[in-house]
Amino acid sequence: MLKIKRIGILTSGGDSPGMNAAIRAVVRTGINNDLEVYGIMSGYQGLIKNEIARMETSSVANIIQRGGTILKSARSEDFKTKEGREKALNNLKKHKIDALVVIGGDGTFTGADIFSREHDIPMIGLPGTIDNDLYGTDFTIGYDTALNNVVMATDKIRDTAIAHNRLFLIEVMGRDAGFIALRSGIAAGAEDILIPETKTYISELISKLKQSRRKNKMSGIIIVSEGDDAGGAYDIADKIKESYPEYEIRVTILGHIQRGGPPSCADRVLASRLGYEAVRALLKGRSGVMVGEIDNKIVYTPFENAVKQHHKINKPLLEMARVLSI
Ligand code: F6P
Repeated sequence: MLKIKRIGILTSGGDSPGMNAAIRAVVRTGINNDLEVYGIMSGYQGLIKNEIARMETSSVANIIQRGGTILKSARSEDFKTKEGREKALNNLKKHKIDALVVIGGDGTFTGADIFSREHDIPMIGLPGTIDNDLYGTDFTIGYDTALNNVVMATDKIRDTAIAHNRLFLIEVMGRDAGFIALRSGIAAGAEDILIPETKTYISELISKLKQSRRKNKMSGIIIVSEGDDAGGAYDIADKIKESYPEYEIRVTILGHIQRGGPPSCADRVLASRLGYEAVRALLKGRSGVMVGEIDNKIVYTPFENAVKQHHKINKPLLEMARVLSI
């Protein structure tokens, strides 16, 4: 088995709060185990462009509390090509980097899976995405912070919704997964939560809204996941307006505000633990897996499964949310 002496670390895909805490944990655990650690800028793109620099303990001082990623992030089209990956390999060789830790989501792990098989490079993944859409971990790094961002914003919108007797449709991120919408919707006491994992019937939604009005509920919040099958929040608002013009509606797209700001305590602890375990996994000879946490235990999931076996949305939680929001 190859004795690992130098490792590289990168962050790729949409950034997520807690990535810095994970970088810090990888760098410091590596140095603690007498490894040299190299930071690769802007994900796989920086690997292709040879944007690689040695990191020391001090390189990661005062970053545990910061959102974003000091290594920057990108979605690399070049890495999807064989030529791009050849360039990446040559740069790894130039720096004598034996193994990689990659932090990101499904695109990151798809790339890692191909690259590690193609060139037999030891690679470990850390789940870094606000979407929580990876199999093999209860929670991804950044999800908890994004939830708190959504809940805080929704609480504020609730104040103005009540003041004006308005219905607000708040669109949240999640690409094609409803994890952010479901959990934040419960915490914000949303009147309804629309997610891509279940079919949305506008007629049912409207009769529910009318029923609420009859019970003197004059305002409301509906959390819409960006991938919902009925369309985006603006489309859904138009459909509601058509059959219920007397209800005044406003739409808020929360957008990238969800991904920023200091990571929550839960994200900092998760990122630290998984970063620490990623380096230990490499040293024990593991490769081609994502390190996750399930029921408080460390779990290793092959990249392929982490990406393809999308973990399931908790439908009973959605039913509960609907009972509680009457
Ligand atoms: O995957 C994270 C995510 O924030 C998704 O929720 C969202 O659909 C997407 O990234 C947005 O991507 P971008 O920042 O490239 O617009």
